Amino acid sequence: MEVSNRETRIAREYHDRTAHSPSSVRTSSHALAWDIKPFPFKVYTDLPPLALPREVDPLPIDTLAALAAGPKGAAARVTLADLTALLYYAAGVTKKKTYAGGGEVLFRAAPSTGALYQTEAYVAVGRVDGLEPGLYHFCPGDFALRCLRAGDVRAFLAHAVADETIARRAATVLLTAIYWRNTWKYQARGYRHLFWDSGTLLAHLLEVGSALGLAPRLYAGFVDAAVSRALGVDAEREAVLELVALGPEGAPAPPVASVEDRRHPYLPLSSSEVDYPLLHEIHAASMLATPDDVRVWREAGRGLGGRVSANVVEEGGPRALVALPAPREASGRVLGETIQQRGSTRQFSHASLSAAELATALWAATRPIDADVPAGLVDLYLIVNAVDGVTSGAYWYRPEAHALELLAAGHYRNESAYLCLEQPLGGDAAAVIYFLAPLARILPVLGNRGYRLANLEAGIAGGRAYLAAYAQGFGASGLTFYDRHVVEFFSSHAAGKDAIFVVALGRGAGSGRVTIGTTPSRPRRPSA
Ligand SMILES: Cc1cc2nc3c(=O)[nH]c(=O)nc-3n(C[C@H](O)[C@H](O)[C@H](O)COP(=O)(O)O)c2cc1C
Repeated sequence: MEVSNRETRIAREYHDRTAHSPSSVRTSSHALAWDIKPFPFKVYTDLPPLALPREVDPLPIDTLAALAAGPKGAAARVTLADLTALLYYAAGVTKKKTYAGGGEVLFRAAPSTGALYQTEAYVAVGRVDGLEPGLYHFCPGDFALRCLRAGDVRAFLAHAVADETIARRAATVLLTAIYWRNTWKYQARGYRHLFWDSGTLLAHLLEVGSALGLAPRLYAGFVDAAVSRALGVDAEREAVLELVALGPEGAPAPPVASVEDRRHPYLPLSSSEVDYPLLHEIHAASMLATPDDVRVWREAGRGLGGRVSANVVEEGGPRALVALPAPREASGRVLGETIQQRGSTRQFSHASLSAAELATALWAATRPIDADVPAGLVDLYLIVNAVDGVTSGAYWYRPEAHALELLAAGHYRNESAYLCLEQPLGGDAAAVIYFLAPLARILPVLGNRGYRLANLEAGIAGGRAYLAAYAQGFGASGLTFYDRHVVEFFSSHAAGKDAIFVVALGRGAGSGRVTIGTTPSRPRRPSA
C-alpha cells in the first residue's frame, strides 16, 4: 500500500530508529564485508564514453567573494567547458591515496561519509555549446559522459518539476544516490547520508555554478517516479534526490508527452547486496505523485518561510549576545584551488581560530540558497573550544544578527568529543557546529519530504562551512553523533529539536607537533 507524504510518523520513526546511542553502537554486530564492498563508480557497459576535456577552468574568483555573490546569472550561454568545470569541482576525482597493502581510494571534490560516494550526477542538456541535446550520465572514474537518451528531455522534466522555466533553462543537473554504496557500511542510517553528501556536493555545484554565471537554482520538489523513469534508474536501488537548473533562459524546449522506460546495463557494484527496508519505506513515504502535489508542497514550504526555530524569543528573556566580526570579504584563495586542495582534517591541533575566521564560516554556512523551497529549517548550535576573543562554551548562532547567543560558558572539549560518537576530532577542533532542526514543526507542514529537506540543508551548510574553512587556511570535518545526547546537551534551548548533522572546524595537527587526542566524556547538561 502506498504511504503518503503526510503520514509523518514514517519520518519520525525512521529518525528515531536510526539514532546513534552508546548502547546501539556497542551492541551493533555489523561488520564490514570487504569482499562485497561496492564499486565506487557507475559504469554503463553498452554506452560509449564521451571524454570530457582534461583542461579545467581554474575558477579564478576568490572563494569568499564567490560565496558572497550568490546565484548570479550573467552568462549568455553554457559551454562544454562550463559543464566540465561544474562536474569536476562538484563530483570529480581530485586526489588518489594508496594505502599500505595496496588499497587505493580515489577521493572526490566534495566530502562524503566514509569516502563511499553514493551520489551520482546526470545532466539534461538543452542548449550547451559543444554538446548535443540529450540526457547524460557523468562518470568521474574515466571523466566522461555517456548519453542515456538522445534528444531534449527538458520539457518532460519541467512537467515533473512543475516549473516550466526548466524547459527554458540551458541545462539541468540531476543528482541521485545508489543506496548500497553507503548502506554497505552505515546500514539504514545511510538514508540521512544521502542528503548530507548530496548537500556537500551541492555546496560546490551551487558555488561553482554561480562563479560561472549560470544562476543555479535548486529543486527539491518533483514527481519522483517521473524523473526516475527519465533517467532509467532502478528505483529500488537508486533514488533521485535533487535537480539544479542552470544557464540562461531561452525558447522553451519542444513538448515531450512521455519518455519510454529505457534501462541501460551497468557494471554490478558487488556480487551481492543487502537490502534495508527502512530506507525504502522513508523514501517511498516522502515521494510526490503528481505535478499538483509538487505545487501544493512547494506552496506549503513557502508558507513555512525563513527560519522555523521557536527560539527567537525565549522564555526567561534574551540571553547575552556575542556580536561576531563581519565576515571576511576575501580569503586570498581562489575557488578552484580551494576545492582542489580540500580534504577532511583527520586530526585537529588545539590551536585557536580567530573570531573573524569562525564568523566567516558561520556566515558562509547560512548564505541563502536559490531553491524552490525556503531554507532556514536548521539551527546552528556550537561548542566553542578555542576561538580568540570568544569565551569557551555552548552557543546558538543567530544568522539574522550575525551573533552568538551564549547558552553556557565552560570547557567542553571532552563532552564535544563524546557527542560526536566519542571521536576525538569533535573535542580537538576549535569549534564544532551542531545542526539541529525542529522536526516537530517541519514535518506537519512539509510532510516526510521535510525530513529530506532538513538533512539536505544541513549538508549544504556543512559543505559551505568546509569551503570557507579551506579558503581561509584551516580545516573541517563532517562528523556523526549521538542524537539524543546532542539535543540534551543544548537543552533547555534545544528541547524538542532533533540532531541532524555536525561539522568540526579547526587547525590541522601536523608539522612534526604531537597532539594528544581529547578523551571523550559523557556530558552533564551545561545549561541545566
Ligand atoms: C556528512 C559527512 C559525515 C562525516 N562523518 C565523519 C565522521 O563521523 N568521522 C570522520 O572521521 N570523518 C567523517 N567525515 C569525513 C569523511 O570521512 C571524508 O569526507 C571522506 O573520507 C572523504 O575524504 P575527504 O573529505 O578528505 O575528501 C564525514 C564527512 C561528511 C561529508
